[in-house]
Amino acid sequence: MTILECIDLRKEYLSGENKTCAVDGITIQFEQGEFCAITGPSGSGKSTFLHLISSLEKATDGEVLYNGKKLSKYNDNQLSVLRRRRFGFVFQAYNLVAELTGYENIILPVMLDKKKPDEDYINNLIDVLGIKDRLEHLPSTMSGGQQQRFALARALANKPSILFADEPTGNLDGKSGKEVISLLKYVSREFGITLILVTHDIHIAEQADRILSIEDGKIIRDSKYLILENNNEKADN
Ligand SMILES: Nc1ncnc2c1ncn2[C@@H]1O[C@H](COP(=O)(O)OP(=O)(O)OP(=O)(O)O)[C@@H](O)[C@H]1O
Ligand SMILES: [Mg+2]
Repeated sequence: MTILECIDLRKEYLSGENKTCAVDGITIQFEQGEFCAITGPSGSGKSTFLHLISSLEKATDGEVLYNGKKLSKYNDNQLSVLRRRRFGFVFQAYNLVAELTGYENIILPVMLDKKKPDEDYINNLIDVLGIKDRLEHLPSTMSGGQQQRFALARALANKPSILFADEPTGNLDGKSGKEVISLLKYVSREFGITLILVTHDIHIAEQADRILSIEDGKIIRDSKYLILENNNEKADN
């Protein structure tokens, strides 16, 4: 089932006389539960594309549909509710609130939504992420890997249907980076969450079900169709 799609999506930035087409007409569907990695050189439009499909930025042209509904029909308030309830975000910067403990950071989005945290679910997340012994600590006393695990728990606290991650291991050493990626994979599978992850690390991308390669704002390769093409060629022979 398609959960998210975009049609001829375009984003242009104007700076003075210069026009940059950061996303240049992308049409694609994401299936519920899939783990899709987006790769490409620096400046190719990966982050811009992720921001457009997650409604953090508005497109110059084209449409994004979540569960078949056009995001252009949502007002700003409806978009922020959608992001808070259905989407989770993890970035290179952990963006934890410095004054709050680890646990308070995790449940912050649930509290902002004036909901009661699902304690069983959150305790399960805490176990899976291995952060039980840091719950009462402030972010400044945690390592980068620990902070990113808390950021991940916070992103998942509302049981999102899609988790958007932009270079989530960019600030981590190789070992913590690997751990965060296996946790991302594990939780997305365990909780049936669609994972859309931007990375320039090919070893990380190779762990995904599907790899999209972006260059100059266009998708130049989609492993899903390469696999389909190969199968068709085999069938033809
Ligand atoms: N707010 C902005 N204003 C003007 N130009 C922008 C803006 N954001 C991005 N761009 C331009 O759009 C293009 C795509 O940028 P984007 O950040 O999406 O690339 P990226 O693939 O994520 O790169 P990186 O791997 O370095 O993070 C670049 O040419 C960039 O300079
Ligand atoms: Mg980027």
